[in-house]
Parts: sequence; structure tokens; C-alpha cells
Amino acid sequence: MSLNMAVLLCFSLFAMAAVAEDPYRFFSWNVTYGDIYPLGVRQQGILINGQFPGPDIHSVTNDNLIINVFNSLDQPFLLSWNGVQQRRNSFEDGVSGTTCPIPPGGNFTYILQVKDQIGSFYYFPSLAFHKAAGGFGGIRILSRPRIPVPFDDPAGDYTVLIGDWYKFNHTDLQAILDRGSRLPFPDGILINGRGSNGASFNVEQGKTYRLRISNVGLENSLNFRIQNHNLKLVEVEGTHTVQTTYSSLDVHVGQSYSVLVTADQPAKDYYIVVSSRFTSTVLTSTAILRYSNSAGPVSGPPPGGPTIQIDWSLNQARSIRTNLTASGPRPNPQGSYHYGLINTTRTIILSGSAGIVNGKQRYGINSVSYVAPDTPLKLADYFKIQGVFRVGSISDRPTGGGIYLDTSVLQTDYRAFAEIVLQNDEDVIQSYHLDGYSFFVVGMDGGQWTTASRNEYNLRDAVSRSTTQVYPKSWTAIYIALDNVGMWNLRSEFWARQYLGQQFYMRVYTTSTSIRDEYPVPKNALLCGRASGRHTRPL
Ligand SMILES: *[C@@H]1O[C@H](CO)[C@@H](O)[C@H](O)[C@H]1NC(C)=O
Ligand SMILES: *[C@@H]1O[C@H](CO)[C@@H](O)[C@H](O)[C@H]1NC(C)=O
Ligand SMILES: *[C@@H]1O[C@H](CO)[C@@H](O)[C@H](O)[C@H]1NC(C)=O
Ligand SMILES: *[C@@H]1O[C@H](CO)[C@@H](O)[C@H](O)[C@H]1NC(C)=O
Ligand SMILES: *[C@@H]1O[C@H](CO)[C@@H](O)[C@H](O)[C@H]1NC(C)=O
Repeated sequence: MSLNMAVLLCFSLFAMAAVAEDPYRFFSWNVTYGDIYPLGVRQQGILINGQFPGPDIHSVTNDNLIINVFNSLDQPFLLSWNGVQQRRNSFEDGVSGTTCPIPPGGNFTYILQVKDQIGSFYYFPSLAFHKAAGGFGGIRILSRPRIPVPFDDPAGDYTVLIGDWYKFNHTDLQAILDRGSRLPFPDGILINGRGSNGASFNVEQGKTYRLRISNVGLENSLNFRIQNHNLKLVEVEGTHTVQTTYSSLDVHVGQSYSVLVTADQPAKDYYIVVSSRFTSTVLTSTAILRYSNSAGPVSGPPPGGPTIQIDWSLNQARSIRTNLTASGPRPNPQGSYHYGLINTTRTIILSGSAGIVNGKQRYGINSVSYVAPDTPLKLADYFKIQGVFRVGSISDRPTGGGIYLDTSVLQTDYRAFAEIVLQNDEDVIQSYHLDGYSFFVVGMDGGQWTTASRNEYNLRDAVSRSTTQVYPKSWTAIYIALDNVGMWNLRSEFWARQYLGQQFYMRVYTTSTSIRDEYPVPKNALLCGRASGRHTRPL
């Protein structure tokens, strides 16, 4: 081979690599305290680049996101990415079990890839009780240009972050929990960081808009509705759904939904209403849907919410299904993965509970109330540091015993296909999230789950998502293909419960050390606890 040819070959290989390389998007974020007045009183909010809520991340399937986060707070800080799977890479998950905190005055660059995903998600601060002060924002992953989307391009695409809110700041709320008490009822509901009538969304008559609604709040399920307008559901946490029209939608804490809204009414202003569900005192907040040629302000009473009975909500949840012929992140139809035909290899039954330990309120799963170790579990695993956690520190069945503290890690095998039953014997509504995955919500119903409950599973077009509610005194069953190696947080999205131990880590394990299965620790990883001073790339 002549030198010229070799150079040419090298050049074309390089060019190919460059073409095949997925695009990069760079973000530089400064996290600071700043004054906010969402409920009319001054509060210290957590801002990102001066914004509350933080800036949205706009991306396209397979993009690499390089997010350099500077922590200008006086406390350690981490961001986590609700619903973004970070395949083979739990190091970047930004929860205390995977990632060392960014120290005050320090910075850390997250390197994420939104591999094989589409849809609507959000990021949030995962440590302490920071989430009660802000630091959250929307994440949208658009389809690649040639992948069909099962609806016309909307005229506008809005992020709508809804959540309950306290006038107490995050350190005061944390102190209440640290003392061993329960939190009081929240003071209000925010819509994009604003109290009633603070947020508005502009529309033009006759056009259709996409709203990406996420419940970034701390505990309450919320109902979302718009005066005189219907909501057409199109996407749930990365799955294109059967396009059903609803007059209002229940969004449980931690969940994300996309709806299409057509501005098909006389041109004026309309109420957007968000209200708490299943609470004796109903919190309500409003925003404004404003037509461009609006003839006048909002009028009439804001529309009321659905009945407090669980059945309305349960029936709505069951009606949310996957559009099997629509494409997801890939051109092939979402229905080409026949999850209902795969035999499950393991059943895990998880039951939440509340109890008092050492005189303080705690919450647990299968009797274990999680306590964080001094070293992130994932780093302990990677550097083979003994004594940080024990596999088998949580049972895969409810034990019936009293609640106790431990660093709970559930071992599962890479490539297993698991059935997980979330049993809720309490009187409160639950919402559970699993990092690193989306799972099929195959069934939910009242009472105690039994093997006979399998007869009512939806094995055809259940929706695949990463956060599911479990109604009071009810169960929810999910199917999950354990195809993402790592240490993944399973938690209650009821934030005080999460903070007081209602979470654990699922170690999806393989003996393989191939980067086809899992990436090594990132070169820029912060090291802490017993991982301090370890070489990031062992020789
Ligand atoms: C972050 O913002 C603070 C307050 O405005 C400022 O003092 C600091 O220099 C900023 N840091 C970076 C890295 O931009
Ligand atoms: C929260 O409020 C308390 C007073 O209630 C104050 O001492 C504390 O510094 C505040 N913390 C933050 C982060 O604003
Ligand atoms: C901190 O930011 C600098 C750029 O200002 C960057 O070079 C460095 O890699 C960042 N540190 C980490 C740990 O990501
Ligand atoms: C499902 O998606 C297809 C696109 O493949 C679309 O034509 C159809 O209208 C959708 N069906 C429903 C019921 O949403
Ligand atoms: C699932 O299990 C059944 C019964 O054990 C067996 O007949 C069937 O072939 C299995 N299906 C798959 C896809 O492995």
C-alpha cells in the first residue's frame, strides 16, 4: 500500500468515525442561592445560572450532554436526571450512592448520553432537602430527524413544572426531619416556579401546542386541567401513547407526561388549574392560557377537579397505553418488543412501611430504612472496597418484621427479566422511581397482590416508564429487562420518605468487565470517603 493510499484510508476512517460520532452539547451551570418570592414571601431559592426553575435541556436521541456544574452553595450538591437512563454509566447518575458530592466551591462535569431515548424528563438536586428550594428543570429528548413522530409538529412546546411547595426553606425542612418529626402540609403549588396566576402560556387560536408536564414536587399527586380545553395524551416518560383525550390528568410525584392542547376556543384567557389529589385540604394553583388575540382576562370559576375516590384515578392510569405502531427512539414500532411473551426469571415483592427507629420517624422498604454509607456504593464496588455494603442487605420479599436501619443493596443478575410487585399496605398514595431504566407497568389494583393477580396483567400494550404510582392499600406490578449494568437507586418520590430511608440500590451485576457492558469510572470522577485518593484508572 502506498503512503498516499494509507493516508487516504486513515483520513476516510477518521471521517467515518467523525460522522458516526453522536453530537455533543455543552452546558456550564452555576448553582447559587438567590431570592425568590413564589408564594409572595422572600425565600432563598436554589438557582441555576440565576434561574428558578433552572434552564431546560433540549437534546436529540443519542446526544452527548456535557454539563459542568459549579457548586456556589455552602453545602455539598449533586444533580440527578430523572428518567435519563445513562446506559452502562451509573457513575453519572448524581445520587449519593453513585457519585461523590460536589463540594462547596467545587465543580464536576457530568458526561451523559441520552442513548436510545426520546421524551420528557427533568433534573433535580438529589442531596439533603435541596429539592424543596429549586435546582430543578426540564429535559426534553427529541426524535432524530428521520424517525417518525406520531403527531404533527406542534406550534409550540412548553415545559410545565408543577409541584407542591413550602414557605419553609430546605434547611428548616431538613431540620424537622432530622429531629424525627413529620413535615407539615405544604403551603401551596407552583407552576414553573410561580404561585397562582404567575405563569402564562401564549397560544394562537387554531394551533396545537405540546405541554410537557412534570410533577417536581415533594409529595402530592396533582391533577392538571385547562378551562374549556381538552388534553390529548401523546407521551409518557419516553413512550408514545395511544392518543386518548382527557378533561384532566393525574400526575403523581416524579412523573412526566406530554399532552397536546388545541387552542380551539373563543380568543380570551383561560385558567390552567393544578390541584392536590387525595388530600382533605385541597391545594389549588392556577396559571393562564393566553390567546394571542385575547379579548379579555380569565373569567368564571376555575374548573373543579375529579372526585377524591381512587377509582377515577386508577381507571385513568389503566387507560394509558402504548401506541404499538408508533415509533419510539428507533424507526421500528414500539410494539415490536413483545415484553408479554418473555418469561420472567425472578419475582421481587417490595412493600413500603413507616416506623420509629431510635425515637425518630423513619420509612423503609421490606423493613429496611436506607442509610447512606461514607463512600458511594458504586465507587466501593468499582474499587473493590470492602465493608461499605453487603449484597443481600435487603430481602426480595416483605419480611413482616419491624423497621431497622441498613445500607440496603439488592443484587440482581444482568439480563434477568424481572417482575417487581410494589405493595402498598398504607393509607397514603406512593410513587416509586427507578433510575437507569424504564419498565412496563403491567398491572395495578386494590388489595393484596397474589399470584392470581397476574391474570389481570396487561401483557400487550402497557406503558413503559420510570415512575409509577401505587394507590393506597393497593399494588402495582412492573416487568423490567435488567439490561443496564450498574448501581441504580429505587426510591419513593415522596421526598420526606426518600430522605428518611424509603429507598435502596439495585446492583445489576455481571462478572464481565467489558466496556460493552459497563463503562469504567470517569476520568474526572470526584473521589470521597474510602475511595479518596484512588487512581481513577487503575493501572
Ligand atoms: C457563580 O455565581 C456567583 C454569584 O454570582 C459568582 O460569585 C461566581 O463567580 C460564579 N461562578 C462561576 C463559576 O461562574
Ligand atoms: C433557612 O431559614 C432559617 C431561619 O428560619 C435560617 O437560619 C437559615 O439560614 C435559612 N437557610 C437557608 C438556606 O436560607
Ligand atoms: C471544573 O471545571 C473546569 C473548567 O472550568 C474543567 O476543566 C474541569 O474538568 C471541571 N472539573 C471536573 C471535575 O469536571
Ligand atoms: C398510533 O401511531 C400511529 C403512527 O404510527 C398513528 O397513525 C395513530 O394515529 C396512533 N394511534 C393512536 C390511537 O394514537
Ligand atoms: C416460557 O416458559 C414456557 C413454560 O415453561 C415455555 O413453554 C416457553 O417456551 C417459554 N417461552 C420463552 C420465550 O422462553
